[in-house]
Amino acid sequence: MTPPAPIAILSALAEEQEGLLECMTDVQRVVHAGRVFWCGRLQGVPVVLALSRIGKVAAAITATALIAHFGVQQLVFTGVAGGVGAGVQVGDVVVGSQYVQHDMDASPLFPRYEIPLTGRAVWDADASLLAQACEAVRRVQPALCTGVFSATLHQGLIASGDRFVSSAAEVAALLAGMRAVGFHPMAVEMEGAAVAQVCADYGVPFVALRTISDRADDSAHVDFPRFVQETASVYAKAIVLEMLDLLSNK
Ligand code: ADE
Repeated sequence: MTPPAPIAILSALAEEQEGLLECMTDVQRVVHAGRVFWCGRLQGVPVVLALSRIGKVAAAITATALIAHFGVQQLVFTGVAGGVGAGVQVGDVVVGSQYVQHDMDASPLFPRYEIPLTGRAVWDADASLLAQACEAVRRVQPALCTGVFSATLHQGLIASGDRFVSSAAEVAALLAGMRAVGFHPMAVEMEGAAVAQVCADYGVPFVALRTISDRADDSAHVDFPRFVQETASVYAKAIVLEMLDLLSNK
């Protein structure tokens, strides 16, 4: 019998990966494309853990390697993001149901945000992974709810681009551009839409979970490192382990 294909857990931050690595069994370290991949089991489920690296190109390369070289058949991304939707606060979790590249602009040749020659700007999460990710967040929410953060779950559009968004003026401009074409992002980050596009091209189900580390405003550069250090790893570990439990009991 062929063993079940592994699930990729792609983390944006080393802090997030460390907690998961500690829980892994049958661990094998593999270097490929200049990156370290950890193959093994989490909650009994075959997994490959990798760091996405930062930015759309780096993350797309990592995702491609996971699919083409390691044969993963589902991909779950965990990381942090800047909250830009109304009511999306630091410590909340945004599960991306859709992904768009906010810095894609080949106009006037193609409509703003559209990826040239694809006819589309928005990529969808896999419906089943999306439902499981949301359920996992709901289940661990009481444990994450510390009094400081409420770990409120949001589901919606995530906008990715090769910028750390760090001023209220930049957020206002980004949202105005997106609203003009009917997009209402809840969070900004630097990888998700690129990985979503790779997964769509390969037919690999994908979802991204993003814990909100900052509001992408003028204090984002202070809030981001503090949150990453103190909280992001706790969230990632709790949510991913719960999600793997849900996947293995399907
Ligand atoms: N990831 C976390 N916070 C972010 C921000 N403000 N901009 C882009 N990516 C982020």
